Amino acid sequence: MCGIVGYVGKQKVLPILINGLKRMEYRGYDSAGVAVIAKNKLWVKKRKGKIRDLEMDLNEEGISSTIGLGHTRWATHGAPSQLNAHPHVDCQKKIAVVHNGIIENYVQLKSRLQSEGHHFNSETDSEILAHLIEMFYKGDMGFAIREALQLIEGTFGVLVISTHEPEKIFGARRGSPMVVGIGEGETLIASDGAALVEHTRNVIHLEDDEMAIADAQGIQVKTLQDKKVIKAVEKISYDLSRIQKGGYDHFMLKEIFEQPETIHDSMRGRLLLEAGNAKLGGLEGCLDRLRHSYRLIITACGTSWHAGLIGEYLIEKLAQIPVEVEYASEFRYRNPVITRVDTVLAITQSGETADTLAAVREARQKGALALGMCNVVGSTIARETDAGVYLHAGPEIGVASTKAFTSQVITLALIALVLGRMGTLSSEDGQTLSQELSLLPEKIRSILKQKDLIKSIAEKIIPHQNALYLGRGFNYPVALEGALKMKEISYIHAEGYPAAEMKHGPIALIDENMPVIFIAVKDPVYDKVVNNIEEVKARGGWVIAIVSEGDEEISRLCDHTIPIPHTLQPLSPILTVIPLQLLAYYTAVMKGCNVDQPRNLAKSVTVE
Ligand code: G6P
Repeated sequence: MCGIVGYVGKQKVLPILINGLKRMEYRGYDSAGVAVIAKNKLWVKKRKGKIRDLEMDLNEEGISSTIGLGHTRWATHGAPSQLNAHPHVDCQKKIAVVHNGIIENYVQLKSRLQSEGHHFNSETDSEILAHLIEMFYKGDMGFAIREALQLIEGTFGVLVISTHEPEKIFGARRGSPMVVGIGEGETLIASDGAALVEHTRNVIHLEDDEMAIADAQGIQVKTLQDKKVIKAVEKISYDLSRIQKGGYDHFMLKEIFEQPETIHDSMRGRLLLEAGNAKLGGLEGCLDRLRHSYRLIITACGTSWHAGLIGEYLIEKLAQIPVEVEYASEFRYRNPVITRVDTVLAITQSGETADTLAAVREARQKGALALGMCNVVGSTIARETDAGVYLHAGPEIGVASTKAFTSQVITLALIALVLGRMGTLSSEDGQTLSQELSLLPEKIRSILKQKDLIKSIAEKIIPHQNALYLGRGFNYPVALEGALKMKEISYIHAEGYPAAEMKHGPIALIDENMPVIFIAVKDPVYDKVVNNIEEVKARGGWVIAIVSEGDEEISRLCDHTIPIPHTLQPLSPILTVIPLQLLAYYTAVMKGCNVDQPRNLAKSVTVE
């Protein structure tokens, strides 16, 4: 959840750390800090608040150093405060540590350390690392860190510097991402490639229980058992503009507007228009096993789980394979019945979500085929699954997921198409679907042109405290996703429901103060949804509807409509979600909320 970055080289370290932290601020943003070694002393600065607050403090200091580490926090143990912010130091202030993850046995370790005379300054679990390393230090930092980490139960991405060995930075991981950037005469280590890409594109990914020891000359990788490991150097493929705002007010808006290109990128080289089929290189070796699976279990969290629900509809309809969708957090703890003839597909933008990773491990351990659908290349889940497919949507920085969602649905449609064509889906039906897929980028462009209409509707939502989102069939998961977007960035309580379920409870909430947002496009369930709209109107509800272009009849029934182009029913979520993303965005912005960094949230949830 937190972002960590370290640097050793020839340049002044503070601006590099601050810049790296800003690139990872999406990972956590309640407090931040840095530690550097200057004149053989540790110098630490930390504070509650955003990176820019920390940066302002630093401007006053003017410390010159070429080695240091930094941290941006998403609090787990101990409230956001200056004392709880990282880096944490040992009693003698010779060792500084930043940590991402959770130390589950910290209470026992802390009381042991306290009984041995160590004094603690924070309420965090992470601080024990500095003291453990201090305890084990007998003239070799690598040894002390290894010994300390062997005692940890839980997860860590950890960086350490020390005046004992002032030229070196140490980084290790278990369950939290860690990437090492190898530059010329400089090395960076961070939670995310975005913090390194301005300095180098050559990276290595640490695996669990590996430790990197870096100085300005280069790096060495060892296991926590002190065995040397030879690592392959990989290249980061995206360029800097993909992680900058590019003239937009917020990353979220940029990412919403990128969707015509990002879904195109997700289909590039994969869609076979003439054959009415698709080609997914990453899945090729296991398609037969997937096609003949007893069932497909999709597991994910948050927005990715909503994409999974649409995947269930798509794959069952086009390929007739039974699909179940489970929250990864539930899946991992209920000892699910999984056999060797099942396939588990983990959908995750970041590829690092702790619950989803645990679900993958559970599935593999039980012998199922484990597949991944990730956006972040080289992420842990991408590497731990048997096979998979990347989204190619480019880095998503806004905490509220938008472009990753549409790329997930597109990629699920491609999987459904491939599996369908291996079964009973005719080439004509395959062609119709693939033709329609290829038209979606242009259709999204035409929806984005309606931003002013959507903004004017959002303005009317602002005074409300609640909202209800209703949809049916393929658009029921879109109702869930629309409600999630609204609540996470505008803090308006919003619920998504299957439209027909309204009468079993939510209808009690309807009055003139309840905005009800319907997805009511012309599809096989259209008439049923219109009935539900009538029921809301009969009770004085205020209706906003996403409708098909040219549908005059429904416009008369609703208070506001947002028309969108027609597409095939299975693909309609890719269009219907766009106005809902914009509706949430404009509502939140006009309410003065920080849409890119909503309170209490983080983009990548690497803790349980
Ligand atoms: C967090 C994010 C959500 C995201 C979810 C799953 O809660 O705030 O936007 O949908 O994690 O993330 P993943 O990277 O696994 O898709």
